[in-house]
This record gives sequence, C-alpha cells and structure tokens, in this order.
Amino acid sequence: MSTNTCRPFILAALAIAGTAFGAGDVALEKAAIDPGNVNSLQRGAANFMNYCSGCHSAKYVRYKTIGKYLSLSEEQLIDNLMFNAEKTFETINAAMPEADAERWFGKAPPDLSLVGRAKGADYVYSFLKGFYVDANSPTGVNNHVLQHTSMPHVLWQLQGYQQAVYTEHSEEDAEGRAVTTQHFEGFEPVTEGSLDAEDYDLFVRDTTNFLAYIAEPIRSDRRKLGVWVLIYLFVFLIIARMLKKQLWKDVT
Ligand code: HEC
Repeated sequence: MSTNTCRPFILAALAIAGTAFGAGDVALEKAAIDPGNVNSLQRGAANFMNYCSGCHSAKYVRYKTIGKYLSLSEEQLIDNLMFNAEKTFETINAAMPEADAERWFGKAPPDLSLVGRAKGADYVYSFLKGFYVDANSPTGVNNHVLQHTSMPHVLWQLQGYQQAVYTEHSEEDAEGRAVTTQHFEGFEPVTEGSLDAEDYDLFVRDTTNFLAYIAEPIRSDRRKLGVWVLIYLFVFLIIARMLKKQLWKDVT
C-alpha cells in the first residue's frame, strides 16, 4: 500500500503580500526592482563587484557598457568597479579560476550575465535572502530556494545567520490516512549582521536590479523608444483623421 507520497515538505504560501510561485513549490518574494533607478543600479554594480565577482563572471558584459548606461565616467569605472580588469572594453571575469572553483565548491559558480532573465529577478532576490543555517551542509548553510546549494552564504557579515522555521501539520487525506506536512513559516535571525533587515533587503534589491539590468541592458532604451513610438502613432492618427476629413469633404 502506498503510504505518504507527499513531498517531504510542502512549502506553504507565506502570508507575505506579493509572493509569487517560481521553481518548484517555493514561494518567491517579489524583488520589486526598479530598472529605471540609476542610483540603485550603481549600488548594485558595486555590490556585485565587491561580493560576487570573486567567484562569478558576467562574461557578456563589458565595463564600458555598464559605464555608459549607469552614467559613470571612465575614472569612476576604473576606481570603483574594475578590480580585475584594466581596459574598459574588457568583460567581467571572475577573479577565481574556474577549475579551482569547481574543485572547492563541487560546481563552478555559474556566469551571471543572464541569470536575471533566465531565472527572474524574484528568484535571485529570494535566493540571496534564502540562506539558513544547516549543520548537515558542508558550507554550514542551506538555501530555501535552491536546496543543497554549494554556494556559501557570502553575505553573512551583512545579514548575519538565520534559521528556517517549519511547523508540522497532520491532516487526514481522502482515505483517512494521516499525512504530515511541514510548513515553512519564515526565517528567524540567529546572529546579527552589520545591516538591519531593511538595509539588507535594499542591498539585495540593488544587487538583483543590477543582475536583471545586465541581462537586458537596453531595456531602459527600449522603454524610452516605446514612448516615442506611441507619441508618433498618436500624432499620425490625428493627421490621418484630418486627412480623411479633408478627402471626404467633397464626396459627402
Ligand atoms: C565563494 C564563491 C561565491 C561567491 C562569492 C558568490 N557565489 Fe553565487 N554561487 C557560487 C556557487 C558555487 C554556485 C553554484 C551553486 C549551486 O548550483 O548549487 C553559485 C550560484 C549562484 C546563483 C545561481 C543559483 C541557481 O539557482 O542556479 C546565483 C543567482 C548566485 N550564485 C548569485 C550570487 C550573487 C548575487 C553573489 C554576490 C552577492 C554571489 N553569488 C557570490 C559561489 C559563489
């Protein structure tokens, strides 16, 4: 007889407003990024270079392009973002050689040029907020969004460590068998980081904003263009109507 065929745990839809379901059953938190906010993108770029580029590359992205879209001068680029590059036309390479990374983590850290589009901003945001202590993991942490991830909690100094809180619920299924499910309730802080929860959210949001932006750097241009196209169509509509009136004047 088949017993409990439920997943080991079913993650409850959190009572957080604005959660969306992404990969699997995990409720993703809305990243609420603003791609038009250049300050946020600049902070995100700095966060990425300081905390992520040691392991992750962004091979399809040139410093030059970032500088152009983030309104940074060449000097600002070189001083603030280019730690392991010399020329602004270079792309963002990871400081760590891929083979070493693979040996240390069991899996090479993926290139993050396109992750914002491939997995979505909500995923990246929730992933960076989803690390929790797990004594059974070699890195000491697990991740709520990507279970058994080999990425360590690299932002622990900022966020501190947190634990995941689950509650068990027993219910009877249609045939009267007891089914126990674990509901994810949320995280509880274990140690404090240098940022409070609100500032950590902001840090992660900026970083996510930057990753979403590099995955689609011309998005803001496209938006601007879209507005002009609409204005053009509107003006053309008026002209067309005037023209129609003019042409039909003598007919009717
Ligand atoms: C110490 C090395 C290291 C650093 C620093 C690091 N990562 Fe990672 N990251 C990894 C490894 C290893 C993986 C592969 C994890 C896996 O697939 O289990 C990974 C995977 C990821 C993924 C993909 C998750 C998925 O679902 O495939 C994202 C997104 C990510 N990292 C974002 C970041 C961001 C943003 C930063 C900077 C705040 C960062 N990482 C810093 C090692 C690192």
